[in-house]
Order: sequence, then structure tokens, then C-alpha cells
Amino acid sequence: MNSRIIENAIEYIKTLFADKADGHDAEHTMRVYRNAMDLAGQYAECDKEIVAIAALLHDADDHKLFNTENNANARTFLGMQGIEPETIERICDIINSISFSKNKGKTLSSLEAKIVQDADRLDAIGAIGIARTFAYGGGKGRSLEAGIGHFHEKLLLLRDLMNTKEARRIAEERHAFMEQFLKEFEKETGAV
Ligand code: NI
Repeated sequence: MNSRIIENAIEYIKTLFADKADGHDAEHTMRVYRNAMDLAGQYAECDKEIVAIAALLHDADDHKLFNTENNANARTFLGMQGIEPETIERICDIINSISFSKNKGKTLSSLEAKIVQDADRLDAIGAIGIARTFAYGGGKGRSLEAGIGHFHEKLLLLRDLMNTKEARRIAEERHAFMEQFLKEFEKETGAV
């Protein structure tokens, strides 16, 4: 694994997300990167360098954050690292294929994409998922109730959408924690 490119990617995303703090920030990317490397460790056949770089760049052109076209931020970085054009395409394909909203129901073709998608989804659930939901909602001026709605529309669905066995195992725990949170929230607010 080329650790120089990984280190450079970490520096790049820290600069790119310097003014973000709504749950789609450099810390999210670093958690996704660590989740992805943990999952990748379970699969000898997986290309860990591709997983690492795709995880680190997975939100670099997120439309909620940046007005870029055709993975411009990711491509700018990858081009500067002297990475082969076909590898750049492979990484951009992974990034483009893992989005929940753009690719509902589609199955991913590569193990690397499955791992990065699982890593991103694990960071959307559990205690961190709860914290991110209200941080993001608050930033958009949304009510707590709207945040609760997001659990039912998306977050509670993610457990059953995990691609890998290890992600599914972690998702079970995080899912149970969210259900417990929702129950307690309803109890305290009297909401049904
Ligand atoms: Ni993400």
C-alpha cells in the first residue's frame, strides 16, 4: 500500500472540509476510512489501497457540500498523485456507485465498492448516526421531529442493506441502539 498517497489524501480532505462541521466533515471521512480498513482486513482478496483512497475521497464531491461536476475534487487530487488514469476511473466509479440516494436497490459489482459503502453506512447509524442526524438537521434549520423522521425514512433501513458479513454484525448492534434511543425519545416527549 502506498502510504504517501494515503497521507496526502488525509491532508487533502482536511483542507477540503476545513469549514464543514455538520456531520459531513473530515471527521466523518476519517471514520469511514477506519471502518473501511477494518472491513477490508477481513478479505485477503480485496485491494486495500483502492479501498483506502476511495473511502478518503468518497464525499469529496458530495453534491450537498460541493458544486463540482464529474468528481472534480477527487480527480484533481488523484491526478496530482500521478495515479494511472484507469485506477482513477476505478476509484471514481466506486465513489459514484455507493451513494444511497443515487443508487437505490442497485447491487455493487466490486468488493471494494461494497466495503466502502458499508463503511459509510456504518457511520450513519448507532450513536454516531444519531449525533450526525441532529447536527445536520440543526444546520439546515430542521426540527428534532424532522430528525426523528429521518430514522424511519433511512437510518433504520441501513442494517438490512449491508453488503458484508462483518458490517452486518456491527450494524445489528448500532441498529439496536437507535431503536432504544427512539423508544426513549418517544417516552420523554410523549410522541408516538
Ligand atoms: Ni459519507
